Amino acid sequence: MTASSRLIDAARQARAHAVASFSGFKVGAALETSTGEIVTGCNIENATYGLTICAERVAMFKALSDGHHHFTRVAIVADTVAPTPPCGACRQILWEFGGDLEVVLANLTGTTGIHRLKDLLPLPFDARLL
Ligand code: THU
Repeated sequence: MTASSRLIDAARQARAHAVASFSGFKVGAALETSTGEIVTGCNIENATYGLTICAERVAMFKALSDGHHHFTRVAIVADTVAPTPPCGACRQILWEFGGDLEVVLANLTGTTGIHRLKDLLPLPFDARLL
């Protein structure tokens, strides 16, 4: 299994835990640390809708909370033919804590896109501006 298929597989497994009670749209994410560990997340929806949190942010917050601070890649999996890219809020959080990650998009059968985060979030606002 290649390194990216291992990461995608972890995101697929995390997706199975998605709490997507309202949209039915399940997403899994897997973040790779610079030491090769994998931290996963799934989307978790809420009856107020607005408190819903995406899979990518769950993965990042879990990783930070476990003491990880250096990351190389994130895989994002949804059951869609077209790529499911991270939303704007997740791009900001991934950029702030992960920098220019490789973003691997995939569905249940294969890869649908590979991007650099800097291309998905041009001209970002971040701590360098404070
Ligand atoms: N969602 C994610 O978890 N990640 C994405 O990249 C796109 C959207 C979730 C949020 C919500 O639970 C559902 O997908 C529909 O928007």
